[in-house]
Amino acid sequence: MSDNNVQIFDTTLRDGEQVPGCKLNTNQKLVIAEQLEHLGVDVIEAGFPVSSPGDFKSVEEISKLIKNTIVCGLTRAVENDIKVAANALRYAKYPRIHTGIGTSASHIKYKFNSNQDAILERAFEAVKFAKSFVEDVEFYAEDAGRTDNEFLARVCEMAIKAGATVLNIPDTTGYCLPSEYGAKIKYLKENVKGIEKAILSCHCHNDLGLATANSIEGVINGARQIECTINGIGERAGNTALEEVVMVLKQHPYLNLDTNINTQHLYGISQLVSESMGIYTQPNKAIVGANAFAHSSGIHQDGVIKNRETYEIINPLDVGVTESAIVLTARSGRAALAYRAKNVGYELTKLQLDSVYANFLDFADLKKEVDDKDIHQIIETSKVYQQIISA
Ligand code: KIV
Ligand code: ZN
Repeated sequence: MSDNNVQIFDTTLRDGEQVPGCKLNTNQKLVIAEQLEHLGVDVIEAGFPVSSPGDFKSVEEISKLIKNTIVCGLTRAVENDIKVAANALRYAKYPRIHTGIGTSASHIKYKFNSNQDAILERAFEAVKFAKSFVEDVEFYAEDAGRTDNEFLARVCEMAIKAGATVLNIPDTTGYCLPSEYGAKIKYLKENVKGIEKAILSCHCHNDLGLATANSIEGVINGARQIECTINGIGERAGNTALEEVVMVLKQHPYLNLDTNINTQHLYGISQLVSESMGIYTQPNKAIVGANAFAHSSGIHQDGVIKNRETYEIINPLDVGVTESAIVLTARSGRAALAYRAKNVGYELTKLQLDSVYANFLDFADLKKEVDDKDIHQIIETSKVYQQIISA
């Protein structure tokens, strides 16, 4: 891995699957895991094996299926969780155990009724125990976003001492501002002894709509792994959207950070996850929403018809969308009508277009979107129809 490569850790099948009512069965998970490998993710977090026999089986089956990608299982800092995860991962070619504990004052007091020294000890013991099963151990400091940086650095040092290869710094509650999250990563890079032995990982939740911005700020400040889900699905407001962080890095090459993702597969896998889980993506969702490459206002349509780059910063083909859409509504102008009319077989002169456009506006005011069938009807009922067909 080069210094500029950002590893993509996909947690669609673990954190993503925590969306209420969207449980996947093992077969659905296997199909998605195969497509994630095809997409080029570096790590597939396949589940939380101790949580249920179904999750154990999914992690086990995914471990058998996946050949070139790291397969990861989540645990708490609890011996039995780690033992069960190691067992579920036993067939994996590249197994990773992801273990950790809450580190914020609130987690230490309310979840564990404990103290900082005891948390440091548990972090160390959990990583050490996980290391007795696999070489690749990732440690998470849950609620790191609200954890005091000095204590967080001590926790990270403990995890590295015990052999952690990756340090996950989750903004579990989606609270941080991008500048704060970036500063946290920078602080850890500069203050944790032995940090060169581990990769820092961003795991950001989207409660304030900042998950993508925070993850990007994290890698700008030295993290080299992003944990994310397809379509940004996950608990509450979800996780960082994989398609967003990958395209931010691709569209801003001067950041000098890249990923191993085959971006042409982004739209396909977005559809697969949305259909398998029964959660439909909002139309204006960045990168993969139905309207992400659709233009409906006259001014924009005129620009895009002249040159796509006037209003599009991404080539739709780069994310697996076949073409940009010119949507006809009452806000559309003559250029869009002429363009769509041409696509269905009418080459309109300027005069013909003026006449048809008046009919089009009357029609469009009554209907949200004008489709190809409507275009035929509008033209065929307009006074200039005879002129058009005899031209
Ligand atoms: O959000 C979080 O803190 C997590 C950890 C369990 C990694 O998902
Ligand atoms: Zn999470």
